[in-house]
Amino acid sequence: MTTTGDDAEAEALLARLTALRAGDLPVHGGRTMAYVYDAGLTGLEELADAASAAFAGVNGLDMTAFPSVVELENDLVRRATALLGGAAGTFTSGGTESCLLAVLTARQHARRVRGITAPELVLPETAHAAFHKAAELFGLTVRSVPVDPETFRVRPADMAAALTDATALVVVSAPSYAHGVIDPVAEVAAEAARRGVLCHVDACIGGWYLGHLRRAGLGGRDAPGIPDTPQVPDFDLSVPGVTSLSVDLHKYAYTPKGASLLLFADPGLRRHGWFAHASWPGYPVVNSTLQGTKSAGPLAAAWAVTERVGAEGYTALSTRVHRAVHALADGVARIDGLRLLARPEASLLAVAATDPALDVFVVADEIRASGWYLQPQPAFGSSPANLHLTVTAAVAGEETVRLLLADLEKAVARARESGPVRVDPGIVAAAAALDPDTLGPQEVEAALALAGVGPDGRLPERAAPVLAVLQALPARLSERLLPEVVGRLYRI
Ligand SMILES: Cc1ncc(COP(=O)(O)O)c(C=O)c1O
Repeated sequence: MTTTGDDAEAEALLARLTALRAGDLPVHGGRTMAYVYDAGLTGLEELADAASAAFAGVNGLDMTAFPSVVELENDLVRRATALLGGAAGTFTSGGTESCLLAVLTARQHARRVRGITAPELVLPETAHAAFHKAAELFGLTVRSVPVDPETFRVRPADMAAALTDATALVVVSAPSYAHGVIDPVAEVAAEAARRGVLCHVDACIGGWYLGHLRRAGLGGRDAPGIPDTPQVPDFDLSVPGVTSLSVDLHKYAYTPKGASLLLFADPGLRRHGWFAHASWPGYPVVNSTLQGTKSAGPLAAAWAVTERVGAEGYTALSTRVHRAVHALADGVARIDGLRLLARPEASLLAVAATDPALDVFVVADEIRASGWYLQPQPAFGSSPANLHLTVTAAVAGEETVRLLLADLEKAVARARESGPVRVDPGIVAAAAALDPDTLGPQEVEAALALAGVGPDGRLPERAAPVLAVLQALPARLSERLLPEVVGRLYRI
């Protein structure tokens, strides 16, 4: 082996990487309440790193050349189906890929088995953006169904009314990312089955957590003081009519990123999502996912972490998170000016303001200054502006919960003092008159300057003014402008 330099050089490179991380949100400690999942268990990350390193060079592209990947994947699918039902599964790179593959599978099934040429995808308006991406990529028409404005769950009758002879797939969430509530899976799946339509449960964020919570005999709706069913509602592949389910391991299985599973009730259905090609001069191709070459690092890391934590360990972690969710829910409801948008049915909270004098985006900026990241969610449909909290095991200590609630109360007081961000209605009206499809470079520049985005794409220190403008613009205009911002960031 030739060397790539001396140890000092390697150390210097690693130091540069560490320095780059200084501007990022922390990934440990439970203070970043979106994007990251920290089990808070000693030694788990070291195990994952070692497993990942051992398999980093293994190529999951060819399962006959690297039979180890088949063993690992079968073990993971076996563990997942024992928890969530189903008879087959595929390991993917993450929630988005699992959702894309679920839609692609359904489209191919609709074409081949039902002769549907112009397939439709029925989604609650709260379904994850990944399904809209899938529809765009794979040529399905989305039928978006509004949710109940009180509960943020979709109503079975509304979903039933959106089904047509061209529906390839109907999707429900367990839970939805934005509100953390569980759609009526059993009712929607029963109607889908009656109409011969496939039904996917997006349990990307909640599946592993809810499955183990159910194992603990705890429920999603038994918040103290809230009389409701103490059971996790039926949401998985044991529900008649549910044909596929996505569950991310890199969320509540606390594995390194790049790990999700798409499970199927019927192995025959899974086959429709696979791509095989022998009509070229190269090697025969069978892809079970959207990727070609793929490192087996994330697969090996997920295998090692799930083996190590085990069903008992995950049950204990879910129990800890469940207690923290309800302690936080109670605490938030006691803070003057804040309210929960929905009763938490899983491990996610959506926190809104009780009156217009309090701007939750300003609250997010204020609490960020105290070292917490709460994720702003702009108003959409019946859902007002709110803050999202993903509660992981690392948050789940009594002391962390107490600190978070105390800092949140102080942030609310400071946000009340500084008042809400006001967007000039004249400017908003002018922006709304712009046609996103014909916007020229100068208009883009002007619109971004209005939002406070610099020519280098960098956002101002405080996000609330940018979010206020974004929220006031029509969604299609935002969708035109956001890639412009990112394009400036990646400008070389
Ligand atoms: C319900 C749901 N579906 C899909 C996804 C997409 O997952 P990923 O970010 O791993 O691609 C997420 C991510 O938060 C989610 O919460």
